[in-house]
Amino acid sequence: MKISVDTVKIVEVGPRDGLQNEKVIIPTQAKIDYITALGDAGLRVIEAGAFVHPKWVPQMADTADVYRNIPKDPGMEYPVLVPNMKGLERAIETGVTSIAIFTAASETFNKRNINMSIDESFENYAPVAARARAEEMRVRGYVSTAMGCPYEGEVPPEKVLEVSARLLDLGCYEVSVGDTIGVGTPLQVQGVIGILLQVIPPSKLAMHFHDTRGTALANTLAALEMGISTFDASAGGLGGCPYAPGASGNMATEDLVYLLEGMAIDSGVDLKKLVEASSVIAPYLDHPLPGRYLQACTKSGAPVAPQSPALQ
Ligand code: HMG
Ligand code: MG
Repeated sequence: MKISVDTVKIVEVGPRDGLQNEKVIIPTQAKIDYITALGDAGLRVIEAGAFVHPKWVPQMADTADVYRNIPKDPGMEYPVLVPNMKGLERAIETGVTSIAIFTAASETFNKRNINMSIDESFENYAPVAARARAEEMRVRGYVSTAMGCPYEGEVPPEKVLEVSARLLDLGCYEVSVGDTIGVGTPLQVQGVIGILLQVIPPSKLAMHFHDTRGTALANTLAALEMGISTFDASAGGLGGCPYAPGASGNMATEDLVYLLEGMAIDSGVDLKKLVEASSVIAPYLDHPLPGRYLQACTKSGAPVAPQSPALQ
């Protein structure tokens, strides 16, 4: 294995991608405490919520209250999902400084998720991104269904490239390439990244793996080998997309940090404090958190550090 990356940026998506799928109502204060604890664990980019239609995703309805009450320490970034101009207006009103716009590489998923075709989503996002930039907001882009679509099956990597390039053309500082339903496998991931890298530098790409079929960490290694150094993950492995049937949680942040520590790759995250952050949200859920590292801690009673690479 040849990996030249020595530092990884983790974009923590638990409070948004994680919680959006939960059916039980989680008190706003619990979300605020969870995000605060994630920051205490060393995460510097934490997706704090979504200004989407509250009828479509009720769990995100309190995003403005959550955002207003989280610590705004220097160096912290709290992107919030914005699907259209109405969402951007809500973000501006709330004082948000960083947004994420989201579209997909497959038409049917996009229609079900945001009620727009891919082209319509770009017509919608062009003025949103322009206004956000005029307001000096940072704009991140997502391309969903990059490794497969729950409705259409295979997705051509060329389509992933086209959609990613269009997001960058709108002024996104980074595109997060999403395996929304967790179907990707390492060689496929390297194939898609190889095509993206023909046009887009690795510094503008992030990978967003869901662990539905247990391939998220293997896919992360495959992406690290290709020079990708930004990964989305969700504490405890919370998550899924309400419009992607069968999609389960994101790659667990603890599992990712454990893997990185074992390879002496710095993420700035304190694993023990991260486990504490997951235990802030766990009591509010109606199921156990699926993250493997977290489950191992629960069974053994204490977090365990990976062996230093020198000992392996
Ligand atoms: P629509 O029904 O087509 O919207 O929904 P519309 O423009 O026709 O408006 C209908 C009504 O909604 C109007 O109200 C609007 O004001 C209101 P009325 O006049 O009828 O009273 N409305 C809004 N209200 C609040 N906030 C808004 C908003 N926009 C319109 N922003 C819409 C279109 C995009 C809003 C809807 O489809 C939606 O909210 N979708 C969100 C879906 C979502 O959140 N999905 C999960 C996140 S994506 C994901 O998880 C994937 C990701 O993790 C990456 C990966 O894994 O691949 C990012
Ligand atoms: Mg997702």
